[in-house]
Amino acid sequence: MARPRFATTAPLLALAVLAAVASVAVATAPAGKDPGGFVVTGRVYCDPCRAGFETNVSKSIPGATVSVECRHYGAGRESLKAEATTDEKGWYKVEIDQDHQEEICEVVLDKSSDPACSETEKTRDRSRVPLTSNNGLKQNGIRYANPIAFFRKEPLADCGSILQKYDLKDAPETP
Ligand SMILES: *[C@@H]1O[C@H](CO)[C@@H](O)[C@H](O)[C@H]1NC(C)=O
Repeated sequence: MARPRFATTAPLLALAVLAAVASVAVATAPAGKDPGGFVVTGRVYCDPCRAGFETNVSKSIPGATVSVECRHYGAGRESLKAEATTDEKGWYKVEIDQDHQEEICEVVLDKSSDPACSETEKTRDRSRVPLTSNNGLKQNGIRYANPIAFFRKEPLADCGSILQKYDLKDAPETP
C-alpha cells in the first residue's frame, strides 16, 4: 500500500531536508564577525500611472524622505526608527549599526519633495529588508530594498495606453 508508506516516510524526509538546509545556512553565515552594521539602500520614484511597477513615465524623486522601522515579531513595539533623504538620483542610504534578528524591518515612505507626486497607499508605501546577518545572506552589509513609489493624485492622460503596453492582465498586483 503506497499511502501508509508515504505517510510514515514523508516526515522523516522533511526532517532530513530541514537538517540539510540548516547546516548549509550555518556554514555560509559570516563567522560571527561584526554583528550588525548594515547599509540599507534603495530608490524612491514617482509612479504617475499608479501602476505599482515602473513604467517609461516613472521618475526618480530626489529629496524625498523615508524611514527604516523595525518591530519585534510579537510585541509590535518599535525598536528602531532611522530617517534618510534621497539624493539627486532618488537613492537613499541608511546606516544601521545593530543586528535586528527576530524583527520585521521596513523602509517606509515619509515625504515626497514633489507636490504633484506625493500620494501614498497603504501597504504599497513600504519595502521589507532583512537586517540580520544570521540568515545566511551573503551580502556584505548592504541591503537593497525594492524601489518604492509615490503616486500622482490624477494619473496622466496617456496612462491608459502606457499601461496597455505593459499588458496589465499578466502583471502582478504589487511590485
Ligand atoms: C511611454 O510609452 C508610451 C506607449 O508606448 C508612449 O506613447 C510614450 O510616448 C512613452 N513615453 C515616454 C516618456 O517615453
